[in-house]
Amino acid sequence: MAFTNSLETGLLEVILSHPAFTCVFLLATLAAIRWYIRDSYKVDGFGEKHVLITGCDSGFGNLLARQLDRKGFRVIATCLTEKGAADLAAAASPRLKTVLLNVTDSASIRGAVEFASREVGGRGLWGLVNNAGRSTPIGPTEWLRLEDFSKVLDVNLMGVIDVTLQFLPLLRKGQGRVVNVASILGRLSLVGGGYCLSKYGVEAFSDILRRDMRHFGIKVSIIEPGFFRTEVTRLDLIEADLKRLWTRLPQEIRDSYGATYLDEYVKAQEFSMNLLCSSDLSKVTGCMEHALTARFPRTRYGAGWDAKLLWIPLSYLPSFVSDFVMRVLLPLPKEGRNH
Ligand SMILES: *[C@@H]1O[C@H](CO)[C@@H](O)[C@H](O)[C@H]1NC(C)=O
Repeated sequence: MAFTNSLETGLLEVILSHPAFTCVFLLATLAAIRWYIRDSYKVDGFGEKHVLITGCDSGFGNLLARQLDRKGFRVIATCLTEKGAADLAAAASPRLKTVLLNVTDSASIRGAVEFASREVGGRGLWGLVNNAGRSTPIGPTEWLRLEDFSKVLDVNLMGVIDVTLQFLPLLRKGQGRVVNVASILGRLSLVGGGYCLSKYGVEAFSDILRRDMRHFGIKVSIIEPGFFRTEVTRLDLIEADLKRLWTRLPQEIRDSYGATYLDEYVKAQEFSMNLLCSSDLSKVTGCMEHALTARFPRTRYGAGWDAKLLWIPLSYLPSFVSDFVMRVLLPLPKEGRNH
């Protein structure tokens, strides 16, 4: 034992005192300092820059619109509902403009592009934040129908693609930026339904868009929030929808899960959400603001401690690790115990 100890200490001493080690250590420190300084450079002239944000009725979009408005940006906030737009306009400066936009409706997007063209004049658009999204229906795959997937994919993926394509000419003119809200669920599939599929799609779409448009001065950033308290994670909505899915299942399928399965599944969702969900939405909007104001915006932003320390590291591990985590978190169906 003493022998190994002294051998290990000796080896460590040799490594630490080796000039190559000092050299690598110094270079790594310098690289980190250089990255940190470069990351803090800002663009200027916010007052001349227009940013269009989708999904500003509530959550990240609503907070970001007010945050950028206070910083002096010219914000065009799109909302799905009249009420969302009116409430936001009342809470912001007269500089902020609201527009109604339904991202699943191409004609509605064309209307928003026309409105934005008039607003930006010859300057073009500085920022497009694709933030609008929905989460339900989510649940075990066997409980779902094709239209349940489409409902989410139409908003979260096809909506993002349609909005981006229609705004590209204005972004090109403004040498602007696209900020796409993905999720840690774009790296790990933790729940059935269209949500994870849509976020994986947003990650892929954004990676390709970044490489295709960099030649024309358009920068693309991806935001990957962990769990935050927004409409997307609202338990009452998720639970009500899960009950709808459960009650429409054939009796024999429900029997195979067992009478208590729905309650246990709902409790598992409650447990994880209460444990993980953060109310501090500014962690996400801070990343969005960096992507819009930094001279060198990052490609990916993990937002929230759970994203940085838990989900993103987990996404790099072999699949059996996340399989195990989900097995522990979710209840077992009654007839599933023997398999
Ligand atoms: C959004 O547009 C789609 C397609 O036109 C339509 O089916 C849906 O009802 C609209 N949603 C809202 C909230 O207006």
